[in-house]
Amino acid sequence: MTTILMANHSPIKAALVTGASKGLGKEIVRRFASAGIYVLATARSVEKLNELQEEFPDHVITFPGDISDSNHVKNLVDQVIHSFGRLDFVINNAGLAHFAPVEDLTENQWDEMMSVNLKAAFLACKYAIPHLKKTQGHIVNISSVAGTEAFARGAGYCASKFGMMALSDALTQELKPHYVKVSTLCPGSIQTEFSSNPKSYSLHASDVAESVYQIITAPANMIIGRVIMRPVVPVDFQKK
Ligand SMILES: NC(=O)c1ccc[n+]([C@@H]2O[C@H](COP(=O)([O-])OP(=O)(O)OC[C@H]3O[C@@H](n4cnc5c(N)ncnc54)[C@H](OP(=O)(O)O)[C@@H]3O)[C@@H](O)[C@H]2O)c1
Repeated sequence: MTTILMANHSPIKAALVTGASKGLGKEIVRRFASAGIYVLATARSVEKLNELQEEFPDHVITFPGDISDSNHVKNLVDQVIHSFGRLDFVINNAGLAHFAPVEDLTENQWDEMMSVNLKAAFLACKYAIPHLKKTQGHIVNISSVAGTEAFARGAGYCASKFGMMALSDALTQELKPHYVKVSTLCPGSIQTEFSSNPKSYSLHASDVAESVYQIITAPANMIIGRVIMRPVVPVDFQKK
């Protein structure tokens, strides 16, 4: 873990971004840090997180660990407060998928998706909410189009993402009186290592990260609740 010492000034805004070692999470960290937001970036890959910290030494600290470990999630929130003194944005982005028919999907694969994709988001929200109430902060849950429509071989992944939609909707109601915003982003295919065979026309992670930034910088009197985004599919690739 690295720490930013801020002897003479307090940060303007501080964020927790999970799944920050690569793909969409990494681009969210880069976009936030470029805008002057202080970020605690977490994932398991220490080296990749270190590279990100070296890119933004004044704005990014790292706290590696397995997000399926409940203690780690609590420590993440504690560390944000210890390092930055406040928490404004929680971006629940860590995720993985095992695609297989239900009869072939293993119990461990199911549990891993529920733990990383859904339970970790619940715990991050649970521990962050007292701090977000103080800053009138914002939770952004990275779901998926798979959280809006299920498909064959996607039972576990879709269930975890549908669950995240329900978590978001309930949180929206619970946090409304406290002026804490909740947004849910449902991207289609993104060009990251998440897919073993990403399409050439899939969304760019940096463009999706830009959308997350737009969501958190929307006017104070506006909540961007649920956003579904898909790539523009070239005509030759469209299903007839
Ligand atoms: N790519 C797509 O087509 C697509 C489409 C819709 C939605 N999404 C969603 O977007 C989010 C980001 O996906 P991505 O495409 O950026 O995937 P990615 O490139 O595979 O990155 C996934 C991130 O999650 C982290 N992670 C996975 N398991 C973890 C664990 N047990 N503990 C801590 N961190 C863990 C990984 O870090 P470490 O491996 O270093 O731990 C990595 O930083 C996910 O929630 C995914 O479901 C993706």
